[in-house]
Amino acid sequence: MRNFLNINALDRGDVLKLVQRALALKAGATPKQAPFTVANLFFENSTRTHTSFQMAENKLGYHQIVLDPQTSSMSKGESLADTLKTLKAIGIDVAVVRHAINDWYVPVLEAAGHPIPQLVNAGDGSGQHPSQSLLDLVTIYEQFGHFDGLHIRIVGDLLHSRVARSNAEILHQLGANVTFSGPDSWLPDDFQQFGHFVAIDEDWDKQDVVMFLRVQHERITQTENLSFSARQYHEQFGLNQTRYARLKATAIVMHPAPVNRDVEIADDLVEAPKSRIFEQMTNGVYARMAILEYTMETEHAAD
Ligand code: CP
Repeated sequence: MRNFLNINALDRGDVLKLVQRALALKAGATPKQAPFTVANLFFENSTRTHTSFQMAENKLGYHQIVLDPQTSSMSKGESLADTLKTLKAIGIDVAVVRHAINDWYVPVLEAAGHPIPQLVNAGDGSGQHPSQSLLDLVTIYEQFGHFDGLHIRIVGDLLHSRVARSNAEILHQLGANVTFSGPDSWLPDDFQQFGHFVAIDEDWDKQDVVMFLRVQHERITQTENLSFSARQYHEQFGLNQTRYARLKATAIVMHPAPVNRDVEIADDLVEAPKSRIFEQMTNGVYARMAILEYTMETEHAAD
């Protein structure tokens, strides 16, 4: 058994196996059903990740224990580490956790004492979103059958996006030609190791995948002093009819969602033929089944 915390900590072979397993499950492969018990702890709001983990767990035959962090004893000051030790003591095998704090799992893993359940990271602050990253890889692989040499443009709020941080590195590692566009103040310096920053319209017609990111209003601090309105952002960095028409015939449009319609993507393009946004959500169920199988399988060296 092992934790699933950061897709970039996996070796390339394991990532490709997870992608292929998710697609096999989508095609009807028999899930490795197991009577594990899971708790989904979402300290940040979620629609897609929470419900698709629940769906994945149902398909795998897991038992779910519902614990709402907001009404748990963490409201009395109990730490996350003690909460997880408690869950293990009462029989929880795996905990799926979303938290606003980057690397929430580091102090949990460092805490001595009673064991904790296997951990799955369902998103940590602006750090990593490994299950989203896997479903994005599944969606790209389903379309193209490979990653090597694909031109992938990631557009928008790179600074606050855990999706961008997970995807930039893994797509680069898998051989894609990744480039980034967005407001200058949202282009983190450390992303340059994974690809160039370019003007959005540069080589637009060469892209195989254009991946738009949600403007993360909840993570934008008051001191950031944004210099554009939603309409200006859409004009400068959004997917409009002109940019859509310039995409090559085989290109696909992605977004982790929720979409701010008419900000990142024009309302009438969210469900356009090149959009894979709802297919990403469907793939999320199979990606998360593959993650849970991977986390709970026993025939490998423990992490
Ligand atoms: N893409 C994503 O993580 O969506 P939710 O916040 O709704 O889970």
